[in-house]
Amino acid sequence: MLKKVHIKTYGCQMNAYDSVRMAEALAPEGYLETPDMEAADLIVLNTCHIREKAAEKIYSELGRLRLVRDRRRAQGSETMIAVAGCVAQAEGAEILKRAPLVDLVVGPQSYHRLPDLVRRARSEGAKLVDTEFPEQDKFASLPARQSRQLPAAFLTIQEGCDKFCTFCVVPYTRGAEFSRPVTAVMAEARRLAGFGVREITVLGQNVNAYAGEGPDGRIWGLAHLLTALAQIPGVERLRYTTSHPADMNDDLIAAHRDIPALMPYLHLPFQAGADRILAAMNRKHTRADYFRLIERIRAARPDLALSTDIIVGFPGETEDDFAATMDVVEEVGFAQAYSFKYSPRPGTPAASLPGQVTEADKSRRLAVLQTRLNAQQAAFNSAQVGRTLPVLFERTGRRPGQLAGRSPYLQAVHVEAGEERIGEIFSVAITQAGPNSLSGVII
Ligand code: 5AD
Ligand code: SF4
Repeated sequence: MLKKVHIKTYGCQMNAYDSVRMAEALAPEGYLETPDMEAADLIVLNTCHIREKAAEKIYSELGRLRLVRDRRRAQGSETMIAVAGCVAQAEGAEILKRAPLVDLVVGPQSYHRLPDLVRRARSEGAKLVDTEFPEQDKFASLPARQSRQLPAAFLTIQEGCDKFCTFCVVPYTRGAEFSRPVTAVMAEARRLAGFGVREITVLGQNVNAYAGEGPDGRIWGLAHLLTALAQIPGVERLRYTTSHPADMNDDLIAAHRDIPALMPYLHLPFQAGADRILAAMNRKHTRADYFRLIERIRAARPDLALSTDIIVGFPGETEDDFAATMDVVEEVGFAQAYSFKYSPRPGTPAASLPGQVTEADKSRRLAVLQTRLNAQQAAFNSAQVGRTLPVLFERTGRRPGQLAGRSPYLQAVHVEAGEERIGEIFSVAITQAGPNSLSGVII
């Protein structure tokens, strides 16, 4: 019998990718994906643990799910509830204690076993927890990619992190760095291209630390992999995220000059501007290192648009340290950026550092920073007016007759055009810029 699954995704692009793979893994079990939670026989929360009371938010969402389950039960339908992702990894069986309505807890490294877990939970009526880090490559156990007909797709090539920034939970929730073999990545990319995917963003918590086993028996770095991906017929655009400054090697910088399909956009977190804070964060780079790096990448690709992650209010951050962060923003100029108040994550070294910054100071610094970042983004967008940009159209826009796509610099671009243009790249004369998007006409 056909059943329905609703997957709610929190957090990063890697979770978005995992949700797609979970849905594909459940399809052979007869689960069809639905955007309607009330219609779902199985609800999966694919959770994120990176910041701010993440677990608490999941527990309150589970409170709401109890009402959904009860309403469905009154109508004679049962609902299975699974918690996946990084909160599942961090909380484990604790989730079953605090939220007894949950049937399954499955971590990011074991979701390939989700179909089996669902089957067992159904037949045995048991509650199951699987947060192991299995020896084998989970991707090898997942079914091949299915058609989703989206012209821009994510492809996870690397997981985990060995950097241990002192504020970050990722090395604990996602585990050690692991790179998928080149052949597996290439096969998945070819399959996506066959479905009409034109743009692939390769993903990893530390994607530029990619070190995958190549078909030649050697270890391939990210630059080598991108070169091979660019040769797949149909793959017209490549992107990668997220990168660590310490892993931006010469080959990867050269790739920005040499691979036309590699889009002129780079997300490169610097986190903080003061060297003493960078050291306390265990970032393995200084402010000067970051500047030098940006200079070299811009020399390779002068029109490169930069994006970054910034944390304000790390323990011990003074007004001078914060001014150093603002100074990096001023010097570099970002097309886009994500900025956060430092949030102590239990179990990470920074959580027990002295000199925790008050909430009021964090909020004030974040507001100052975001005002400046928003102005930079608006200026970057305005600078596109009058230019003609190649835009890959991905979907219909909010208004009827409107299409939405992306510029090479990852800006959202809206035009009036027919749906038949979805999935292709067209030249667009940019006529207007807003804070978060551009609009124009196809020429
Ligand atoms: N507090 C605030 N921001 C954090 N990030 C990671 N951990 C924390 C934390 N404890 C931010 C970093 C990272 C991004 C994904 O989230 O800037 O690059
Ligand atoms: Fe977290 Fe640092 Fe690893 Fe990024 S590089 S995932 S911030 S530990």
